[in-house]
This record gives sequence, C-alpha cells and structure tokens, in this order.
Amino acid sequence: MNYEQAKAKLEQLGQMHLLRWYDELSDTEQDALLAQIDELDPELLEVFRNRGSAADRGHIEPLGALTTDDINVNRERFEAAGLEAIREGKVGAVLLAGGMGTRLGFDKPKGMYNLGETHPLYIFECLIHNLMEVVDKAGTYVPLFIMTSEKNDEDTREFLEENKFFGYNPEYVHFFMQAMAPAVDPDGKILLEEKGRIATSPNGNGGWFKSLMKAGLLGLLQREGIEWLNVFAVDNVLQRIADPCFVGATLLSGCDSGSKVIAKADPEERVGVLCLEDGAPSIVEYYEMTEEMISRREPDGRLSYNYGVILNYLFQTSQLIDMANNRLSVHVVNKKVPYIDETGALVKPQTPNAYKFEELVLDMIHMQKTCLAYEVVRSYEFAPIKNPTGVDSVESAKELLKQNGVVL
Ligand code: UTP
Repeated sequence: MNYEQAKAKLEQLGQMHLLRWYDELSDTEQDALLAQIDELDPELLEVFRNRGSAADRGHIEPLGALTTDDINVNRERFEAAGLEAIREGKVGAVLLAGGMGTRLGFDKPKGMYNLGETHPLYIFECLIHNLMEVVDKAGTYVPLFIMTSEKNDEDTREFLEENKFFGYNPEYVHFFMQAMAPAVDPDGKILLEEKGRIATSPNGNGGWFKSLMKAGLLGLLQREGIEWLNVFAVDNVLQRIADPCFVGATLLSGCDSGSKVIAKADPEERVGVLCLEDGAPSIVEYYEMTEEMISRREPDGRLSYNYGVILNYLFQTSQLIDMANNRLSVHVVNKKVPYIDETGALVKPQTPNAYKFEELVLDMIHMQKTCLAYEVVRSYEFAPIKNPTGVDSVESAKELLKQNGVVL
C-alpha cells in the first residue's frame, strides 16, 4: 500500500491522525506503518461502534456433565481408550500462550513467571511436568503446539530453549504466532504506540486454529494423523494436559468436542458456564447470566447452571478445518494500553484507557454439535494465575500447588 492509498483508507475510516508524524519517519518506518494500515480491518471499527448492542442469545438450557462420580466408576475404561489414542499419535496439545497477562503485571511471557521459593519453578515448567506424566504413562511424546504473539515470541522460544524445554523432546514442540489487532480510545480512534507504529495487541485466543494453519502446521497435523487437539491456557498450573481419562471419555461419548468443567463454588462465582443454546453447546459468561439462571436448581438441589469452564477443551481436527472460515464474534475489552499523545509523548496509563478486540476460544464451542462436559476436582486441576494477589493469583496457585505435593 502506498501513501495515497493509505490516506484514502484512513480518510474513509476517520483515522487520519495515524499519519500525523509520517513525514518525520525514516523510509523503513514509513513502510512499516503503511503495511500496518493496509492490514487494518475496517470491520473492527464497525464492531466498536456497535458495542453494547450484544447479539441476543438463543434459548438457553442447562447441560449436564459427566460427574466425577461417573468418571471414577469408568476411569479404567476411559484411560485405556485415551492412552490408546495417544499412543497412536492421534492427540496433540495446544498451549495458548499469546496473551499479554496484563493483570499479573509481569513484563515477560506469563510462562516465565517463577513460582519457586526454595528453587526455581516456572509456570512453563509446571505445565511440562504435568504433560510428562502422560508421556511417561503412554510411552510416547504428545505433539505440543505453542501459540505465542509477536510481543512474546522471541522471549518464549529463547526461554524454553535455554531451559532445554524442561525435559520435553523439542522435536515434538511446534511454535506458531497469533495475529494482532489494533487498540482504540473511547472515541474509536486507533492509538499509536510510537510515531510510526499503531498500538496493537494479540487478537484473543479464539484465532488459534487459523493462526496454526497460517503458520503451515495443518500439513503436519494431517501427515501425523492428529485427530484431536487439547487446547489449554498457560496460566492454570495444575492443568492436566492430554489427560488420557478426558480423551478416552470424550472419544467414547461420541461427542464432537469435550470441555473440562468444575462445579461452581457458589451461584455467583465468576466463571463462564457450559450450557445448551438452541440445542447446541455454548458458554454463557457470568455477566450474561440472569438472576433466574444463577439461582435455578434441579430437584436434587444442585445448581442447574452448575458447570464452569476452565479453558481446557478437546476439539476434533476435522471439525476445526470445516469451521476455519466461520468468523467468531469479536469481543471489545477495556484494557490498559500505552500510547503516544498528540504531543508525541508516551503515556503509560494506570487504569484501563482503551479498547482491544478479541476473538475467544469459548465461542468455538457453540460451533460444535455436541460437547462432553467432563467434571474435574477443582483443588486438583484448577489453579489459575491471573493476578499477583487475591483471587486466581500467584498466592492462591502456590497454595494449591503445595496442597498437591509440589515443592516450591
Ligand atoms: P486471559 O483471558 O487471561 O488473557 O487468557 P491474558 O492476556 O493472558 O491476561 P490479561 O487479561 O491481560 O490479564 C487466557 C489464556 O488465553 C491466552 C493466554 O495466554 C492464556 O493462556 N491468550 C489470551 C492468548 O493466547 N492470546 C490472546 O490474545 C489472549
């Protein structure tokens, strides 16, 4: 895209301020800015204008889960089926590690956070240890795909290489980078982070499969016969990855997909709940729940909308390919974004000042015909690290690791 084309595009979008410092930039910086303008998706600005008028949800109904009791009764059968699939190379794992982790306030990739007290113990290390348990049981490595973003790709790769992948066989590790999206101020004006650079941030965790395909990894999935992908978040240090029992239960259930869930600690708990929407699986966020939904109970006293998701899903590769062209909803989220003001000075806000655009993996669940809700015990499998202290924090995760016998 040349300058004239960029100007025409920005005039139409009301974003001419992006060229304010164009004449001061070097040739390379000018080219880089023009390339960013070329990539700008006008639809995102449309989404921003229409925010607040959230699309109406369909008819929501509860979805039951395979409970921990059901699982315990069938554990051997499920595990055997899962281990067989893993040994046949049909299962891959996808670590979503492209997020910015702004709430934690750590300026490196979240996985590099050291939880150790008497020896180093990094978040990445905890996850790989958990996955190694499966590798040891199955006697084979599980292909591990790691999604990064342009903000943390280099640091992540270097860190894992320096630490020899914490014992994981690097031949089974494949990195890919996710796409970025611009940030806008409350008036919908795109922010600059430098005079020649639009402020961008990772575009959410929902674009992972498209990014994996863009990185050319689909051929590998097909060649290796990887039929199922277990997608999981970087920040749950108790996460069981490629869990044979979960894999086996999902395979034997005949469902298209699976989701690990936890029973809600209390009706108001801030977790997305796995439900049915117009007969298909769907996740309703805590802030979308009506009072009636929050308090509704089954005849046995259990909450009707009881099962919260923990970002640990199993998807079928064939389904992911089929739905790769479907556009997911774009969520507009209020976050802290550093930017340069009209004088060219860098501003580092202390409170959320801008809006980012994100696609979310949870929206992929609604594209599945069926999803097995698989209940796990929260104290064994759920220790998310979102904040430095308080709820879902370094503090709470350390406590849970200790309870599970991990020496810090
Ligand atoms: P979060 O929703 O907690 O976002 O991510 P975050 O960016 O890590 O943290 P905050 O909100 O800024 O504090 C849940 C999972 O999705 C991944 C994260 O790395 C984490 O594993 N993620 C999130 C991505 O891979 N890409 C994204 O663009 C966003």
